[in-house]
Amino acid sequence: MSFCRLLCLLSVAVAVANAQVGPAVFAHVIVGNTAAYDVAQWQTEIGVAQEATIDGFALNIGTPLAGTTQTQIANAFAAAAAQPGDFKLFFSFDYLGGADGPWAASDVISILSQYGGNAAHYKVNGQPLVSTFEGTGNTGDWSSIASSVNGGIYFMPDWTSLGPGGIGQYSDIIQGAFSWDMWPDGPNNITDDSDKAWQSALGSKSFMMGVSPWFYTDLPGYDKAWVWRGDDMWHTRWMQTLDVKPQFVEIVTWNDYGESHYINDIYEAGIPYDNEGNSAAAYVNGFPHAGWRSLLPYYIAMYKNNAPPSVSDEIIQYWYRLAPVASGQTNGTTGNDCPSSINGASAPQSCYPVDDILEDAVFFTALVGSLPADITFAIGDAQPESIAATQVGLNHFSRAFNGQTGNVTVAISRNGADVVSSTGPAIAESWPNDVAIYNAWVGTASTADGANARRGLQWRR
Ligand SMILES: *[C@@H]1O[C@H](CO)[C@@H](O)[C@H](O)[C@H]1NC(C)=O
Ligand SMILES: *[C@@H]1O[C@H](CO)[C@@H](O)[C@H](O)[C@H]1NC(C)=O
Ligand SMILES: *[C@@H]1O[C@H](CO)[C@@H](O)[C@H](O)[C@H]1NC(C)=O
Repeated sequence: MSFCRLLCLLSVAVAVANAQVGPAVFAHVIVGNTAAYDVAQWQTEIGVAQEATIDGFALNIGTPLAGTTQTQIANAFAAAAAQPGDFKLFFSFDYLGGADGPWAASDVISILSQYGGNAAHYKVNGQPLVSTFEGTGNTGDWSSIASSVNGGIYFMPDWTSLGPGGIGQYSDIIQGAFSWDMWPDGPNNITDDSDKAWQSALGSKSFMMGVSPWFYTDLPGYDKAWVWRGDDMWHTRWMQTLDVKPQFVEIVTWNDYGESHYINDIYEAGIPYDNEGNSAAAYVNGFPHAGWRSLLPYYIAMYKNNAPPSVSDEIIQYWYRLAPVASGQTNGTTGNDCPSSINGASAPQSCYPVDDILEDAVFFTALVGSLPADITFAIGDAQPESIAATQVGLNHFSRAFNGQTGNVTVAISRNGADVVSSTGPAIAESWPNDVAIYNAWVGTASTADGANARRGLQWRR
């Protein structure tokens, strides 16, 4: 008996030490943009996220804890339970975005008591994962919140405004952290330096890395008219997950139409307007981002296995703005959040002219199953350029507008014949009403799509 007891204790200790934290990939959902949803709409979107191999949604909720928010939390959990598969949810308490200011600890406790134990709630070592958007004025709430939830919580706040140097003092109440620092400062490509600084500040605690494709918002009634450099970022950032190897990745966002970093299909009733009545529809309608999901199964498998998976379908993904950056009025938009920073960045950022921030280029990524293969590219009537793929797997490129206008055509071709191709809307010389729109149009095509598959390309599987 004492032998068994020793062995059992030992195996429990080993199990705890080896308890796996992650990897998992979530998408940040603005629950405020889901007010018109029913359970069926949640189920549809969970299905779409599952196709992209996303593990769950981070439900961003602001105050007050009333009507719509409560209804949509309940709908989301009902949908996750009803949908086949193993889709999970957790909360990201938004301390800046709520109509009633920061969250009251009692409301946080009430939500976590109700949903923390739900089968569809994402858990780490049996504890519900809990996150935030900011809330550095309420750090004192969390030890009592954690002890009020049966079994405790796995707490990974996004307290990015503290900077990595400011997180250490909270090591007693956090199990990890999420960094919102995921767009580059100025006319530079994003690096993962900030992620590594967070990771090193966290030591053995968990890190959630943010991956975002874009950022453009023009809602003057909310004092938000900013653009950050997106350009190559969707590809660059996923490649950086291999370098950072975070426990978790959070895609920012699923449905924030107001900030142009949605990867969900456009859902009309979810497009926000500001308190002066300006609607984000002015720069969201006509700018589908669904194409950004097509390579997620590949990127996510690569992140989870730390190695490229094998290629089943060949896919081309591409995105661009529909006119040169300098061809329209900025409408008050500045490069970066300036002059002051309210978006969670730890230091105020500099202002840049928008023209300096964005490249006039088409960005495209081809997932290639075998070599040789070429990626063909053309704007308008120009002679198509043929670019040799350099490797099986992902091949990423960009090509400048160079003054060309017209439809954009991209293809993967082999032995002179298109294997898969796609044509996107025309790049124009200027904007029809002279106001520039800095959102991206995103397209994609796959050999798994009906038309291409019918061309007899299923030999690949
Ligand atoms: C950003 O990275 C791309 C390659 O991914 C490169 O072509 C481009 O020159 C870089 N731009 C800047 C401003 O560093
Ligand atoms: C330009 O600004 C006006 C208000 O100042 C707003 O109503 C309109 O939607 C903006 N246009 C774009 C494309 O953002
Ligand atoms: C070419 O671009 C125009 C303007 O955006 C669009 O109406 C048309 O459908 C495009 N053609 C193709 C073949 O996609």
